[in-house]
Amino acid sequence: MILGIESSCDDTSVALYNVGTKKIIASQTYNQAKSHAKFGGIVPEIASREHLSQLPGLISALWAESGSSFSDLKAIAVTSQPGLIGSLLIGVSYARALSYALKIPLLGVDHLEAHIFSAFLEQNPPVYPFLSLLISGGHTHLFLVEGFQKYVLLGRTLDDALGEAFDKVAKMLGLSYPGGPELEKIAKFPTDQECKFPIPLQGKPGMNFSFSGLKTFARNAILARMQKQPQALMTAEDLWDKLSTKDQKQTIAIAQGFQKSVFDFLLDRLEKASKITKCGKISICGGVAQNLFFQSRLQNLAQKLAWEIYTPHRQYIADNGSMVAFLASLYWEKDQSLFPNLFQARSISPLSLNACVG
Ligand code: KG4
Ligand code: ZN
Repeated sequence: MILGIESSCDDTSVALYNVGTKKIIASQTYNQAKSHAKFGGIVPEIASREHLSQLPGLISALWAESGSSFSDLKAIAVTSQPGLIGSLLIGVSYARALSYALKIPLLGVDHLEAHIFSAFLEQNPPVYPFLSLLISGGHTHLFLVEGFQKYVLLGRTLDDALGEAFDKVAKMLGLSYPGGPELEKIAKFPTDQECKFPIPLQGKPGMNFSFSGLKTFARNAILARMQKQPQALMTAEDLWDKLSTKDQKQTIAIAQGFQKSVFDFLLDRLEKASKITKCGKISICGGVAQNLFFQSRLQNLAQKLAWEIYTPHRQYIADNGSMVAFLASLYWEKDQSLFPNLFQARSISPLSLNACVG
């Protein structure tokens, strides 16, 4: 079995993959969102400390869930890049210590590459080639996946990641972290107001993304339209009771306008990418891909254009140890010597450095 460890951001997650049966046999995840809620975003120092305190307990829970133990492990895989440096260090140090103590090999894997393969943890994975859209709190990337280790980066964000933009706009509206799901809840209410956001990078060539201008647009809209500026951060339900009827309507209009703009932008990029690559299989991953408004708009477009959409379930769509263990299994099957025996984590596919085309 291969143990996968993920600690690049604010999810501490471990999973066991059985190389023989090709199945995830156990997984344990701790999400730190509550600890960061009142700050409106992730506090890196808190994230590192939580990883440190949670990891040993999660590993014990993994043995309890699977009925196995350290002696059943063949290898260890850990996310080694990219991510918050303190958070990565906790996972990598823990994995190196285990590898040294158990005298088994260790592989450092690329977080973005692991996300791409979350689509393979489901029953009907996509057949190559397919497009992979990663939209999370730390990353916004669009890849053409031609095969294992054959990835073409079609576009990436030039500034903020999409989840980060969601979190920052939500924070300006008075919503606590993670702001994305809270903003989505607010946007579901009806309103007679409209706040039309611009669509970024209009008329510019290529398939890159940009979201920072929308934050400024949101800031100005909030200052111009809201009677009262938020004093503290809270959930959508709590905020609702504190807003005047006028401010409720404007909050909904701003949330709806922001969502419409970013998802129009994403769908436009996907349509362009699909045309250029002649590929109609699209896999989505990363926390923002949980947004149901986005999923339903994507399904509508998919029906029109005869696309096949692949959406992993909740436990695989956001950060998780299963995708790390699964990706490591592909490297294991390909060439076990890639797993260094020097008890050193090293990454063998620095996706984040790929050249951008288009
Ligand atoms: O993939 P993830 O769990 O962690 C990393 O950032 O790697 O993604 C978290 C991000 C946060 O920015 C969060 O606000 C966003 O995903 N998110 C959403 C939704 N659920 C989570 N954004 C928009 N709509 C949602 N329903
Ligand atoms: Zn991630």
